[in-house]
Amino acid sequence: MRSYFIAGNWKMHKTAAESAALASELREKLAGCKEKVMVAPAFTALSEVSKVLAGSSILLGAQNMGPEEQGAHTGEVSVLMLKDLGVKVVILGHSERRHTYLETDELINKKVLLALKHGLEVILCVGETLEEREAGRLEEVVGTQIEKGLASVPAEKLPMVTIAYEPVWAIGTGKTATPEDADAVHAYCRKVLAGMYGEEAARSMVIQYGGSVKPDNAATLMGMPNIDGALVGGASLKADTFVPIACFR
Ligand code: PGA
Repeated sequence: MRSYFIAGNWKMHKTAAESAALASELREKLAGCKEKVMVAPAFTALSEVSKVLAGSSILLGAQNMGPEEQGAHTGEVSVLMLKDLGVKVVILGHSERRHTYLETDELINKKVLLALKHGLEVILCVGETLEEREAGRLEEVVGTQIEKGLASVPAEKLPMVTIAYEPVWAIGTGKTATPEDADAVHAYCRKVLAGMYGEEAARSMVIQYGGSVKPDNAATLMGMPNIDGALVGGASLKADTFVPIACFR
């Protein structure tokens, strides 16, 4: 049985104090929540949020990390620094990193391998643009992102990996894939994973949906057979909207 995993990505929002306040509200309001929950504040707020979440069941996530352990990499944040602050999960390959900051599958794979080597869980984001979807390239794009993103990841590390399917055209736009549409892509992701790791491994992998997940569509999306959670942007910035998503059942 797969379990649900709901993650909040706070992106480039909130000061350290604002982040700590939200984390503290979530800690209180999610105390009875049975799902696996993570929040990913900005790097500058990780330290404060880590203190607030210490001893709670909410996992601390980071939104990205550098591809090297340390060295002359101006502006990057290393896996060792994240671990030092109590980070347990790192989001990699988010479409904003792929499309705005031109991260390649090769770079993302390097980060995936490094995070896993250091014991961090990884959320690997994949998803097609509207142009790619309309050109009939959805499966090719998503399949390649999974295969290249997970290249050289051994089967025994798979329990540390979550896939987040996020159609780029649905992120921050208020548009969501229909639950049936999203579920079909999730099923396709599982097929790609089965080709790489076998049916059983593919069946047990958690695949989140992301892209305008809100309290009013969360339960329907996560009710679909292949959708095992959500990666939430905008609606994760307030307890009022994130709590009902995290506690959707
Ligand atoms: P959104 O963002 O929920 O604001 O669409 C999702 C994401 O980017 O992970």
